[in-house]
Amino acid sequence: RKLRWAWRLGYISAIAGVAYLGYGVYLDRHPEPQVEPDPSKKTLVILGTGWGSVSLLKRLDTENYNVIVISPRNYFLFTPLLPSCTTGTIEHRSIMEPVRTILRQKKASVKFYEAEASSIDPERKVVRIFDNSEIRGDITETEVPYDMLVIGVGAENATFGIPGVREHSCFLKEIGDAQKIRKRIMDCVETAAFKDQPPEEIDRLMHMVVVGGGPTGVEFAGELQDFFQEDIKKLVPEISDRFRVTLIEALPSVLPSFSKQLIEYTESTFKEEKINIHTKTMVKKVTDKTVEAEVTGPDGKKETVVFPYGLLVWATGNAVRPVIKDLMSRIPAQKNSRRGLAVNEYLVVQGTRDIWALGDCAVAGYAPTAQVASQEGTFLARLFNNMAKTEALEEKIRELSSSLNLQPGNSAEISREIAQYERQLKRIKDVKPFQYSHQGSLAYIGSEKAVADVTWFNGNVAAAGSLTFLFWRSAYISMCFSTRNRLLVINDWLKSKVFGRDLSRE
Ligand code: FAD
Ligand code: NAI
Repeated sequence: RKLRWAWRLGYISAIAGVAYLGYGVYLDRHPEPQVEPDPSKKTLVILGTGWGSVSLLKRLDTENYNVIVISPRNYFLFTPLLPSCTTGTIEHRSIMEPVRTILRQKKASVKFYEAEASSIDPERKVVRIFDNSEIRGDITETEVPYDMLVIGVGAENATFGIPGVREHSCFLKEIGDAQKIRKRIMDCVETAAFKDQPPEEIDRLMHMVVVGGGPTGVEFAGELQDFFQEDIKKLVPEISDRFRVTLIEALPSVLPSFSKQLIEYTESTFKEEKINIHTKTMVKKVTDKTVEAEVTGPDGKKETVVFPYGLLVWATGNAVRPVIKDLMSRIPAQKNSRRGLAVNEYLVVQGTRDIWALGDCAVAGYAPTAQVASQEGTFLARLFNNMAKTEALEEKIRELSSSLNLQPGNSAEISREIAQYERQLKRIKDVKPFQYSHQGSLAYIGSEKAVADVTWFNGNVAAAGSLTFLFWRSAYISMCFSTRNRLLVINDWLKSKVFGRDLSRE
């Protein structure tokens, strides 16, 4: 009988879960009417639709400001699963969330301009923007004034001015990059399989080189090897013994930000997977078919090595965007900052008023990660919500104080009310500076294995292997932006497991 009750309970919970999910989807599809922004309120301009800006938007009470969002990308991108899009394990639209959907969920409407900020004038308090999309109207460039500005434009790819990198390699930062890589992999495979292709040309075309042994390079190399082992090898057997993945890293090890045992685990797993790792190897030049690198031997001697390649993916980290460089050159206090906008503990850009920066374009003393950007966004939302409440309370106190003189008969009651507001004001004004809380680092390393450095009760736990892979998957599923994203990603995982990845070249 107990078992029957357990079944009934499970059944009811399942129905309740589905109903709850359905109701959430219904609400998303039929949002409440939005209020129009009040023109007397301050204009808050937010640049970017990445981790930092979207996390701010998610929690910002948009009734308090006239909010304008400006970004050349009209969607949020869940970057942790981007390497999986390069091989078709996940379809790119599954990790994109349209910014219009996000903004439609807000109480007060928010303006969005699909445009790039080309310059910021802190003196005149304006942002110059331009439309760089394919279709352009009569106006392609204009200025947007602001009272408060949040800069969350991220970073661009670092190339260190190495010749040939921009012309010949693929990056891995945006959806377009992942699509380009996916196309190139299949182009290399089909070209290698072309009639009478000479053996050395097949070797070159099937050699996939990844430069940069940080998490992006490592995750991509793992995904690529999976794609080959699970799909390409079966469907294009004639070239199967020629496929090679090489990972080149300038430092003595890959994943330098992970703990030593996880570095060793990754390197030994790559060895088993037949991914070649070349550490202490610094790329100096790239041509259309080769990578030239300087290898430092155990005796300290340097030697030049040439790697012919079919696909080259460049993943050597971040560089400052031109709009940020331009702003930094206008602010004397930013003179010594090299990696982005130096901010204080409240994320205010040093040397400015009413400008905040977050994420990869800001230098707050933390690594450029989604975790940091998203926590900074949450912090700013709380700060701005509090600032608006503070202003409203101060206004109320001012009004009540002036009515004290006009209604002396009610003075006791008014004083009580003022004291109550002052207490609230003190509580709200007491905002602590931003403090990052590190939850840990995760990385997929191929063949259904992952590594994790997780913070656990103030300590650090290092884990690796197949169970960590399941943890990696469940962590990223729970972090996906919406229920729609979650269902699409799960569906993609199932689809690629059951039917294999799609080898068609679009
Ligand atoms: P972004 O998310 O890059 O967003 C910047 C936004 O600004 C974009 O919308 C862009 O279109 C817009 N923009 C650009 N130029 C302009 C302009 N001139 N004017 C207006 N808008 C502009 N971090 C983790 O913590 N965990 C992970 O697993 C992880 N995986 C990653 C995997 C990959 C492949 C990559 C590339 C990064 C990964 N990261 C990860 C790092 C993480 O994605 C970044 O740290 C994070 O995206 C930074 O957020 P952001 O808001 O500063 O910038
Ligand atoms: P990165 O900066 O972490 O690593 C780049 C690597 O390239 C460095 O190890 C560097 O030594 C190497 N390099 C630079 N120039 C080189 C050259 N000429 N030749 C050979 N090697 C060279 O960059 P990545 O991986 O793009 O990550 C950027 C940020 O995003 C980091 O903060 C990272 O933590 C985060 N991220 C986190 C992920 C995760 O947690 N799973 C996944 C991807 C990125």
